[in-house]
Amino acid sequence: MLSYVIEGNCKIEGTVKASGSKNAALPIIATAILNPEPVTFYNIPDIEDTRITLKILKMLGCKITTDSGKIVISSKYMHNKTIPKELMHKLRSTVILAGAILGRFKEATFSYPGGCNIGKRPIDLHLKAFKDLGVEIEEKEDYIHCRAKKEMIGAKIRLDFPSVGATENIILASVYCKGVTHIINAAKEPEIQDLAKCLNKMGARIYGAGTSRITICGVNKLHKADYKIMNDRIETGTLLCAAAITGGTVKVENANPEYLLNVLYKLKEMGCDIKIGRNTITLKSPKQLHSVNIETTPYPGFPTDMQPIIGAVLTKAEGTSIIKENIFENRFKYALDLKKMGANIKINEKENTIEITGKTKLKGETVSSADLRGGAALVLAGLSAEGKTRVENIEYILRGYENLENKLQKLGANIKIEKVV
Ligand code: UD1
Repeated sequence: MLSYVIEGNCKIEGTVKASGSKNAALPIIATAILNPEPVTFYNIPDIEDTRITLKILKMLGCKITTDSGKIVISSKYMHNKTIPKELMHKLRSTVILAGAILGRFKEATFSYPGGCNIGKRPIDLHLKAFKDLGVEIEEKEDYIHCRAKKEMIGAKIRLDFPSVGATENIILASVYCKGVTHIINAAKEPEIQDLAKCLNKMGARIYGAGTSRITICGVNKLHKADYKIMNDRIETGTLLCAAAITGGTVKVENANPEYLLNVLYKLKEMGCDIKIGRNTITLKSPKQLHSVNIETTPYPGFPTDMQPIIGAVLTKAEGTSIIKENIFENRFKYALDLKKMGANIKINEKENTIEITGKTKLKGETVSSADLRGGAALVLAGLSAEGKTRVENIEYILRGYENLENKLQKLGANIKIEKVV
């Protein structure tokens, strides 16, 4: 088990570069399954989630070479169409590989995915969409077998909820479909726009990504391509919040300000001074942060992934803030650990809200990450706390943040990883 040990009372100051986006990298790696020609990707973050995804691709028969930030994948001789249960359980987005395998081979076998335990996270919308495309589904002995007996044919697919994963899976599964696929009530997240851009560069015909109606006109083949994936908007937001909670100033380079507008708007409302450059965001924390109310909604609303991070910052704000989580049912576990550190938080499980009364002096404690973003929230709390904080179970954090401790060290934090045996 790995832990972060953080000496608190620090001020985050300086300039830092955001890494490639975790949530864009995973579906974009899946495009390599769909495309038998070699593809080259740049800016894929070196994190546990991408390592596991690449390991699965290797197991499926893909050839992968990596060379200083560049990854070349060839799936020409890929033969295996089954994702093993053990790897499937490691992260949620393995389900995206199913759409790519299905799109390429018209059959795929996989099990229910794992990932952060932040709610029920079913995959019913994914499976229903596969059926709409002409796929037969059979569940047997922990595995889901998908197979199109004849051709996969484009269809009009209406999502009950704009699920990010389901939208990505439908795009991947329908690139080679005969005819046209329409996704109605599609998710609009920037990572979906990045996926469509990447596939279009390979010769796919996807229109409307970034809107609630996406159209995919089937093509017969994809061609060789290279693609640089977008930068991580949630990591950017986390680094900005590290400055906000510690009363510091940070400039994040390689940022996409337009993808973070709702978060920046809230940070401004809290009193932070924000300066936006073309690819940079600078945040200067005020003498005193103010409380705000936040409600998470699908993009372009306030992102659920930033909810725990802002939750930590609000423990420092004057007044009472209310956060309502609308996307996942179980995303306030971090609040219990913040309470242990001295935060004044009331949790209302029935309403899925928390009420934070701020301006508290957090004190160093031993806490444990229960999920990726909740863990990052505890790291931020530790930076601002009085004394030493040990964040246990940081395997969750390492899944999604590239070199977080190095980046924070360069910004003035005293943080190190310790192995507990
Ligand atoms: C993706 C992101 C995650 C982010 C989330 C919401 C990746 C790798 N992960 O997760 O960081 O927090 O979007 O922005 O990109 N749902 C169903 N049935 C389904 C699918 C989803 O009911 O078949 C529900 C989920 O339980 C959840 C909501 O829809 O309550 C949103 O899930 P979804 O948008 O699919 O999130 P993910 O793609 O899992």
